[in-house]
Amino acid sequence: MRNLVIALGIVCSATASAQTVQERLPTCLLCHGESGQSQNAGVPSLGAQQPFYVTVQLLMFRERMRVADPMNDMAKGLSDDDLRTFADIIAKLPSPRPPDETPDTARIERARALVAQNHCNVCHTANLTGQDNVPNIADQREDYLIKALRGYKDNSRHGYDATMAEVMQPITDDQILDLAYYIARVK
Ligand code: HEC
Ligand code: HEC
Repeated sequence: MRNLVIALGIVCSATASAQTVQERLPTCLLCHGESGQSQNAGVPSLGAQQPFYVTVQLLMFRERMRVADPMNDMAKGLSDDDLRTFADIIAKLPSPRPPDETPDTARIERARALVAQNHCNVCHTANLTGQDNVPNIADQREDYLIKALRGYKDNSRHGYDATMAEVMQPITDDQILDLAYYIARVK
């Protein structure tokens, strides 16, 4: 009997996880954009995101270590393998593109200086495309970047560790606006 229960458990969870990724992906991309670029206010682009970063963030949503609508519900019931499968698919979507407009060079210059001073480019790499658990932020949506940076600063967003909360400590809200403006237009 016990063996049967264990065997059934394995079959059920294998079936559920096979359906989960297949069934859920179209819903994910409806919000996040099929081409890797989000057209929706407040919803981040996922194209070319670092797979390890995505795996960790989905795990944090699932465990409610990062609390944000609607992602805690979206990550419910996903297995660790599902998280990795989503991350691998997301990493292969095309990179987002910057807005098609002439940038404000004064703001870009101010933000470039802040990036160098605060070593953003050391962890996120020179072109800001990230590595391992450090996210690709290049050409991310400006509104989402503002929310993310404010969230780390006021502790409403908890990172996997305290790195970003510490980075944001000396940075003012005006500087957050310049940083987000620039990062959204890096390429
Ligand atoms: C109804 C819209 C919606 C749907 C559907 C949705 N998401 Fe999200 N997702 C969001 C929003 C909004 C955020 C940003 C949350 C925040 O403000 O921190 C987000 C954040 C994320 C992040 C973190 C990105 C980052 O840069 O930190 C990942 C990864 C992600 N979603 C993957 C998924 C996956 C995988 C699915 C499907 C299982 C999915 N999303 C479904 C709206 C959505
Ligand atoms: C010491 C390494 C380090 C430095 C320096 C650093 N970051 Fe980060 N950054 C990280 C890590 C690690 C994460 C992921 C944290 C988490 O788990 O939420 C992150 C996350 C982010 C995110 C969230 C992206 C997303 O998709 O949600 C943004 C935006 C960001 N960093 C911008 C910056 C900016 C701007 C600077 C400079 C002012 C900076 N970072 C400096 C390591 C760093």
